[in-house]
Amino acid sequence: MNEPVVWLRDGSPHSPRFNDRYRSRSGGVAQAASVFLAGCGLPRRWRGKTEFTILETGFGLGLNFLTTWAAWEADAQRCNDLHFVSVEAYPAAAADIVRSAQASNPTGNAGAPWPARVQALAPQLAGAWQGLSPGIHRLRFAGARVHLTLAVGEAQTMLERLTCEADAVYLDGFSPAVNPEMWSPTTLQAMAHRCRPGTTLATYTVAHSVREALKQLGFRVEKCQGLPPKRHRLEAVFSPAQ
Ligand SMILES: C[S@@+](CC[C@H](N)C(=O)[O-])C[C@H]1O[C@@H](n2cnc3c(N)ncnc32)[C@H](O)[C@@H]1O
Repeated sequence: MNEPVVWLRDGSPHSPRFNDRYRSRSGGVAQAASVFLAGCGLPRRWRGKTEFTILETGFGLGLNFLTTWAAWEADAQRCNDLHFVSVEAYPAAAADIVRSAQASNPTGNAGAPWPARVQALAPQLAGAWQGLSPGIHRLRFAGARVHLTLAVGEAQTMLERLTCEADAVYLDGFSPAVNPEMWSPTTLQAMAHRCRPGTTLATYTVAHSVREALKQLGFRVEKCQGLPPKRHRLEAVFSPAQ
């Protein structure tokens, strides 16, 4: 059965299981662009590369994926192949993915690029969104140049099963207060095993426990100006001691 999503009056998707919103009150595309893409140095970092791999914890309604795909498509210097690898324990319904990509917040993703394109791409994702049983699923889009690997299952277990090497990481569990297993030192360690020196990481939370765990794992961590109403967000670079 698909994970139930409740739609709040302001258009935000909400998880009854975690009692949290799937994204920022300022809009999912705005958050994807300013927290995750910009926080990982994208699109700049994929330019001129043959392939580029993004690892995400928490696929949710796929808005980070769709926004990244739209940004890749709009970039004349894009890498040839974009790999997006994401873990998700509770896949939502295809209809919620499409609804989530539609005008989704009162400010209409103010200032964010690509919302119209994100909306246009969503049905392609929803069309491929079938039979997502626990395990690893590979979906291809954009003439098989955008590769989505969905690892359906508990984050730590799935991160340990994956074999990719990430160039960038989006950490997007629900708030650490309500979803601690997504931010636990052991889950973050399994994520770090998929990184190499120079891998960039972004997240919306600056929770002390998350910053400390990332530092312990060898990330250089920086608090940056956040997307309102949040004051801060996090950027990090994997720089393990040699
Ligand atoms: C904030 S939402 C992600 C939003 C998403 N990145 C997007 O662009 O729409 C967090 C996601 O993490 C998933 N999640 C929570 N705990 C998990 C766990 N232990 N293992 C795997 N996924 C988990 C939730 O089901 C939810 O879809």
